[in-house]
Amino acid sequence: LHQKNHFAPNIVKTQTYNKLDLPPFRAGLSKEVLFISEMYQRGSTKLYEIWRREELALAYIAYYLPLNWLRALSVIAEGQRLGFFEDLERVIDFGSGPGTFQFAALESHLRFSAWSFIEHEKAAQDWHKRFLASLADAPTEKDCEWSRDAIDIDKAQAKQTMGVFSYSLNEMASLPAWAFDLEALCIIEPSTAEAGRRLQELRQKLIDSGFSIWAPCTHQGHCPLLTHSKTDWCHHRIHVELPDQVMELEKNLPIKNTSLTYSYVLARRMAPTPTQTPQARVIGDTLYERGKVRQAVCRGPEREFLSWLTRFGEPDPIERGTLIDIPDTAEIKGPEIRLPRN
Ligand SMILES: C[S@@+](CC[C@H](N)C(=O)[O-])C[C@H]1O[C@@H](n2cnc3c(N)ncnc32)[C@H](O)[C@@H]1O
Repeated sequence: LHQKNHFAPNIVKTQTYNKLDLPPFRAGLSKEVLFISEMYQRGSTKLYEIWRREELALAYIAYYLPLNWLRALSVIAEGQRLGFFEDLERVIDFGSGPGTFQFAALESHLRFSAWSFIEHEKAAQDWHKRFLASLADAPTEKDCEWSRDAIDIDKAQAKQTMGVFSYSLNEMASLPAWAFDLEALCIIEPSTAEAGRRLQELRQKLIDSGFSIWAPCTHQGHCPLLTHSKTDWCHHRIHVELPDQVMELEKNLPIKNTSLTYSYVLARRMAPTPTQTPQARVIGDTLYERGKVRQAVCRGPEREFLSWLTRFGEPDPIERGTLIDIPDTAEIKGPEIRLPRN
């Protein structure tokens, strides 16, 4: 079963990050990387300092920029597989920072005719402009507009516009009202319990406002992790190949990223086009229990698990995020789905 009918995520890497006009990174930046991580963890109200203090900005560019870029590459690849970006002309990237999402889009050959960036820190905008200028075949500053606060959105234009929130929604109380008028939304959030569950709630709000969820969910029903659990949250994991200087930084960090996690939602007003891919997504790691192996799977509003009795042999673990077929012949035992043995 595992070899035959599933779509597992690939290893994600960037070939463009090192082509940016990056500043020289001095040794010892890992201290600043940790300082930023602590700021996020304690919910600092002074996150703007990341862009106002140069040593922190350099740490962001050396470390958080490439990691969020890899996350965005993976979300974009899933969107491209599903045809999610079709007919979208314009992007409004909220909290665009140094341009992370735009660079991942360019690397993925995803083109839009207009880009608007809402970023209230001028230094972040300046880094973004510098990086953009260093890439051949990229939009020029002319095709892009920056503003520090909300922008006016023309209703007609909204129909072809995608709102992007890459690690920026967690710095706000809620999704801004104008975002509900857009045709498409791409939201990427940290994979913490709090941000993940907040995103699950927002997912329902989007469905109630007329959006369809294209990914990661394969259905439009209630989120089983929201309705059947008070603590669990949906998150995705990708395996990555890190740029050299991130590996160098990690030598002095307690964090080692051979994989990255995040929570995300791709939503559009248009309903998803049916695909040939399987309709259940593995949403948990492999759990080894007495006499059986279980793995959480999502295909509708019920909380379900794939399960195997170990007396018939142990299954190979399935990657979180894998799409899998559940044949009609599967045996359903309460929340457990016992897949037929080949
Ligand atoms: C964690 S960074 C993410 C940057 C980038 N999107 C990425 O994925 O790397 C969040 C960014 O949102 C910006 N930001 C937060 N709240 C904002 C607001 N209300 N208006 C405009 N920008 C905001 C911050 O200045 C920061 O650059």
